[in-house]
Amino acid sequence: MTPRIEAGTDLAEQARQVLDSTSYAYYSAGSGENLSLREAAEAWRKWRILPRVLRDVSAVDTRRTLLGTDLSAPVVAAPTAFHHLASPQGEIATARGVAAAGSLLVLSARSSRAPEAVAAAGGPWWAQIYCLRDPALTRTYVERVTAAGARALVLTVDAPYVTPRGAELGPLPFDADDTAARLSDPATRTRALEQDPALTPHAIAWLRELSDLPVLVKGVLRPDDALACVTAGAAGIIVSAHGGRQLDRVLPTSRALPPVVRAVAGRVPVLVDGGVCTGLDVLVALALGADAVLVGRPVLWALALAGEAGVETLLHSYREQLSRAMALAGCATAAHLTSDLVSA
Ligand code: FNR
Repeated sequence: MTPRIEAGTDLAEQARQVLDSTSYAYYSAGSGENLSLREAAEAWRKWRILPRVLRDVSAVDTRRTLLGTDLSAPVVAAPTAFHHLASPQGEIATARGVAAAGSLLVLSARSSRAPEAVAAAGGPWWAQIYCLRDPALTRTYVERVTAAGARALVLTVDAPYVTPRGAELGPLPFDADDTAARLSDPATRTRALEQDPALTPHAIAWLRELSDLPVLVKGVLRPDDALACVTAGAAGIIVSAHGGRQLDRVLPTSRALPPVVRAVAGRVPVLVDGGVCTGLDVLVALALGADAVLVGRPVLWALALAGEAGVETLLHSYREQLSRAMALAGCATAAHLTSDLVSA
């Protein structure tokens, strides 16, 4: 059966039919009682829109420039681990689909393909990183992704410890590039590869010394934390609850976003992710002050269903839906997406 790839449709259900059960469980898992996982998408739908009329929407422009990168729409592929479970080419296929759609890939530190191979796909990409217990390993990886052409670093900070999700993968069942060497060193080094739970905002300054790349911080939900990150030199904030995979019962990102936007006050871009299923969700996020959204699982489902073409089609559908929603809300450009457009 030909898959139907469109944002907001039954992508997860379609992907479940083609993925093996372990991979599907790993991708779809949340933590705890899955409360955050369930609420994330619902919370976007709770906002109500106050559309403008008679505003000449004959030409709607969804384009954005994010830290110097031009995007066809402010919808970016979130960093998610192990794309080889969805497609043999893994992140290389994702990167090609993302590039074809005029978007940006945030490459997971737990990617199944080496950053150099992903860079060779040609599109713009940022490198998500963790600060590990052994700083030498972090330093090497940062130097590596910088040399490979990453345009920014995305430091994920909501995972000082990885939360059990009841759907863990066994030993990495693949041999792609150097990933096995990068992620599953012999037992003696296992602890060094863990995320450093002692991290503070100083890590941001340390990363800025290691690399000239802008450093965004991912996994912020509180305005005071956002401010501390900006003060420490962050070039962007990503409001995220890790797709409901870390601490359960956190405030949904659509509700955490407005106070963070107020605290950051335009000093750096603010991005958001978690349950962004449709172009209408994107419109709400932008009206609430986000500069862009990231999309995690839907990209994995599209990748599983149709490889790079699936990823391109999915991102294209987000853009089409956003364009339509902007027109119907009386917003021809990003400048019209202001907070008075939505009501709680
Ligand atoms: C993730 N996420 C994630 N985040 C990160 O910073 N590094 C990582 O390696 C991963 N890996 C990962 C794997 C899988 C299977 C999922 C589903 C998620 C979190 C991801 O970047 C993003 O925050 C969420 O996926 C956003 O929520 P949605 O779009 O999946 O609802």
